[in-house]
Amino acid sequence: MQKLIVEGGRRLRGELVLQGSKNSSLPILAASLLCREECVIRNCPALTDVYAAARILNCVGCRCTFSENTAVISPQTVTGTAIPEALMREMRSSIIFMGAMLGRMGECGVSVPGGCELGPRPIDMHLAALRKMGVDITEPGGSIVCRSRGGRAKGAKLTLAFPSVGATENIILCAAAAEGETVINNAAREPEICDLCGFLRACGADIAGDGGSSIVIRGRDKLHGCEYTVMPDRIAGATYLSMTAAAGGEMILDNACPAEMEPFLNVLEQTGCSIYTSGDRIYLRSGSRLRAVRDRIRTMPHPGFPTDAQAVLMAALATAEGTSVFEENIFDCRYRHTDALVKMGADIQILGKVAIVRGVPGLHGAPVEATDLRGGAAMVCAALAAEGISEISRICYIDRGYEKIEEAVRKLGGRISRV
Ligand code: EPU
Repeated sequence: MQKLIVEGGRRLRGELVLQGSKNSSLPILAASLLCREECVIRNCPALTDVYAAARILNCVGCRCTFSENTAVISPQTVTGTAIPEALMREMRSSIIFMGAMLGRMGECGVSVPGGCELGPRPIDMHLAALRKMGVDITEPGGSIVCRSRGGRAKGAKLTLAFPSVGATENIILCAAAAEGETVINNAAREPEICDLCGFLRACGADIAGDGGSSIVIRGRDKLHGCEYTVMPDRIAGATYLSMTAAAGGEMILDNACPAEMEPFLNVLEQTGCSIYTSGDRIYLRSGSRLRAVRDRIRTMPHPGFPTDAQAVLMAALATAEGTSVFEENIFDCRYRHTDALVKMGADIQILGKVAIVRGVPGLHGAPVEATDLRGGAAMVCAALAAEGISEISRICYIDRGYEKIEEAVRKLGGRISRV
């Protein structure tokens, strides 16, 4: 098993081109199943989760090749309607293939992705919405078998109990090829939803209202192919900015998406970092010591503070002057990284969904284990700020979301190696 070795305590300085978004690429790759012609998807990050999505596409009969951040998919030959359990387990978000396969084939067989690092991640909202769209769903022994009545799902008026990103994506995918109009009320407003809709519109889909709480999708008989460029990864962007804030220094992030990152940037700015944006560039300079964030940092659906950036900001605030308080409102179990930060000298107390972070003057290197994707990235942030050497193991989690993280950190002048 590979490890990252980080020698911390050095200020960072450099310029970095931000990778494409993982959480856009995955639903867009699934969406290509709906098309009858070749799709060329650019700015796709080279990540284990993206490779898993490509394997699923190949398994159901598409031809999907991936090179130099471009995925080329020929979905004309889709025949399969089932995704084997082993492939489903490789990646939690394999569940979004459900809506796409229903849209294309009118049926699908998948399995519930297994236990998770972030707590239970039910798919009840996905299933309830698809049932309302005329899909019969049975769940024999851990698998999920879906069949649209009459071979094609029907448009429906749906209201989500919570603006779930995955449920919104699954509904959009199914509705884009369904009969009639689907309205999703209380839809997720995340930028990645708009990116998925942007791709589908480029393929001829009729979708309006994405980015707002009500999305209207009028189903089309056939979608054509397109060339599309995936948006930048706002969470990877938040991570590299947090690293520079934590270690001190200055950096430029190129090919970023400042508007979509605003909920994060607004909070980061309160730590005393100077942040300027121009076009798709973000410039950050961090002073000698960060300040704690005065208001409670509550993770919320977009445009609230993103749950995916909670861990990396916490790592930066571990050495800030004063006490910061986080409230995690999206996932039940998203503080598992805090034990590692405490091992590195942080003072963090967890009280249910609240984390109290009392800033300490400095951290020290330690051997730690990544607990999940963003938690692992938070350990890299803390290690860069810490005096001495840290050894981060179980980095397979980190590799699910960060393209060659060690090369990116080295571009910022960080001392890091993969062994
Ligand atoms: N939920 C339900 N029932 C459902 C669906 C969701 O109870 O049917 C609950 C979940 O258990 C969770 C909350 O609703 O507590 C939010 O879940 P959501 O469906 O919005 O999240 P997701 O689609 O599973 C995506 C991202 C996550 C990100 C969340 C929230 C992808 C592939 N994943 O997950 O990204 O944290 O939205 O923004 O897009 C990551 O990149 O590290 C990551 C975990």
